[in-house]
Parts: sequence; C-alpha cells; structure tokens
Amino acid sequence: MDDLRDKYLAAIANAGDESTLEDLRVQAVGKKGEISLKMRELGKMTPEERQIMGPKLNALKDEINSALAAKKQALSDAALDERLRAEWLDVTLPARGRRMGTIHPVSQVTEEVTAIFADMGFAVAEGPQVESDWHNFDALNIPGHHPARAEMDTFYMHRAADDDRPPHVLRTHTSPVQIRSMEAQGAPIRVICPGRVYRADYDQTHTPMFHQVEGLAIDKDISMANLKWVLEEFCRAFFEVDGVELRFRASHFPFTEPSAEVDIRCSWADGTLKIGEGDDWLEILGSGMVHPKVLMAGDIDPAAWQGFAFGMGIDRIAMLKYGIPDLRAFFDSDLRWLRHYGFASLDQPTLHGGLSR
Ligand code: PHE
Repeated sequence: MDDLRDKYLAAIANAGDESTLEDLRVQAVGKKGEISLKMRELGKMTPEERQIMGPKLNALKDEINSALAAKKQALSDAALDERLRAEWLDVTLPARGRRMGTIHPVSQVTEEVTAIFADMGFAVAEGPQVESDWHNFDALNIPGHHPARAEMDTFYMHRAADDDRPPHVLRTHTSPVQIRSMEAQGAPIRVICPGRVYRADYDQTHTPMFHQVEGLAIDKDISMANLKWVLEEFCRAFFEVDGVELRFRASHFPFTEPSAEVDIRCSWADGTLKIGEGDDWLEILGSGMVHPKVLMAGDIDPAAWQGFAFGMGIDRIAMLKYGIPDLRAFFDSDLRWLRHYGFASLDQPTLHGGLSR
C-alpha cells in the first residue's frame, strides 16, 4: 500500500496539466482504479484483516483525492498567473497614433462653414459643375453680350459642329445653384451651396478650379439688415476672434441690387496676417439683395418675395484663417503640405465642440 501511495503522490506532483491529472484520478480512484479494486477485495478478507485494511484503504483514498484537488487548484492558479502576466496592459500609456491621413483644409473649412450656417437654419444645396450657359449666366441677369462673361474667363464645353443643344460651361461661380434651388423648392428658401467652380486663371491666389460657397435666403420681409447680421455672425464664429469687424462697400453684380462687397479688418504686422485688428481691409465676399429678374428666372414672384445672396471663396477664407500663403499648393497633393496644414481625421467641426482644434 505504501508503494501505491508513493507512486500516485509522485505522479500527481509531476502532472503538468489538468488532463494528465484526470487520467491519474481514473487510474487510482476511478470505478476500476487500482485503489477501488483493492477496496473490493475487502469482502474476501477475514474480519480481522478487514478491520486493519479498511481504514487504511479509506485513508489512502482520501489522501489521493485531496492531493488531486490541491494539484488541480495549483494548476489553475498557475494558468491564471500566466494569463495575467501575458495580458498585462499599461493603461496610462498614450494612445498609439494611426496613419490615417489628414483632412484637407478645403474640406475642413467647408465643414466649418456648413456647421455655422446650419446653426442659423440654412440647409445645404448642390448643383452640377458642368452647368448650362443659361443657369450660369442668363438666369443671373448676365445676357450674352455682358462683359462679365469675358471677365470670368469661362471654360466652354466642346460641342460637335452639328450639335445644336444649348451651350454648357464649367460653372464660373456657385450662383447658378440659386436658380436651381428656386426651381426645385420655390420660396421661402434658406440654403448655402458649397462646391467647385472654374475659371481660366493661374497665379499665387488663382487656380483654374477653386471653391465657393453661395448663400441664399428668400422670404417675405428680408432686408440688407438681415444680410449684414448673418454675415457678421458668420465671420465672428468662423474666424474665432471676438473683435471681427466688417466693412460693407457698395459694389455691382448683375444678379443683386443693391450689391455690396464685404471686407474684413486685418493687420499685416511683420508679414503675418491678423484678423480683427490693424488698419488694412481684405475683401472676402460679394453679396446683395437678389435682383427681381433673377427671382423671375427662378419662377418666384418678386412682388411677393425678396431675399439676399452672397458668394464667398472657400479656399480664400481657408488661406486667411489658417495662414496658408499660396493657393496653388492646395491642389498639388503634396503629402508634406497635407501633414502640415491638414486636420485630424476624426475631429468633426461643430459649434459646441469647437470648429478647429
Ligand atoms: N457670384 C459672385 C462671384 O463669383 C459672388 C456673389 C454671389 C455676389 C452672390 C453677390 C451675390 O464673384
């Protein structure tokens, strides 16, 4: 019996995993285990023998069972320790940055502008970039002979000699979306229309494709005062400077009457631009009250409705806000430029969360 005891206690001590341990249990104290079989032999013994062997066998069985249980616990403790060591995590480490690219300043500023105007109740409307000559010019009170057509350096779409469909252009501004919004929804209207526009021009501040955002509000009793308030409210929020000051300068556009260009106060101390201080003025947008002929082109009765419109260069206000000196770099797709001027891909500009951070 001592041999049996030594054999099983040694084997249990050496077991490396739970399945080995289970095999040992079956061999020793299972139904047909060695110790169980010995216990069955008790019946054939004399009462004297049985009195000695019975308690001994029972004690051995108990000893093996508790050795098995203790080893089982030790194995599972060791497994847990190993897991804790392997899965250790320092939650105080900074997050690992992921290379996801950055948001282009044009996309960022478009989102910022959209967030600000959405807060004032403006929806977003869009129109085609290949636009009918009529929507881009005629409907906006720019007839065929008008000098504005030449001034805009328009790209005309090619037409085959025998193609007599009306001419199309790459839209030179977002103003045709005014007409499309009137056609689509009638009055009242409150929309902004961001998008790409095209003019044949190329230097530090001009590229053949650039971005504008149009604004259009039409209702029963809209005045220049509403236009002024909306634009001041926009500039204060957009430039994120308290003392933003605007200057409305009388101007002329065929599609607005009266018309005003809007300048923003700035300084150019040591070659860096600061918004909201100094003695310089920078033009940022064109605006005015929608011309009655334009309302009529959009099938809206100018005797019942009136409104204001404005058009602003997105790339231009991006350059001003973020101090980007050359417009051409916007469209070079240079990754170094994007990493420098781009924005974190998961930060959505919102009025409450901050526009740019
Ligand atoms: N469409 C004009 C431009 O491109 C801007 C503008 C829009 C002016 C709306 C007045 C009203 O210069």
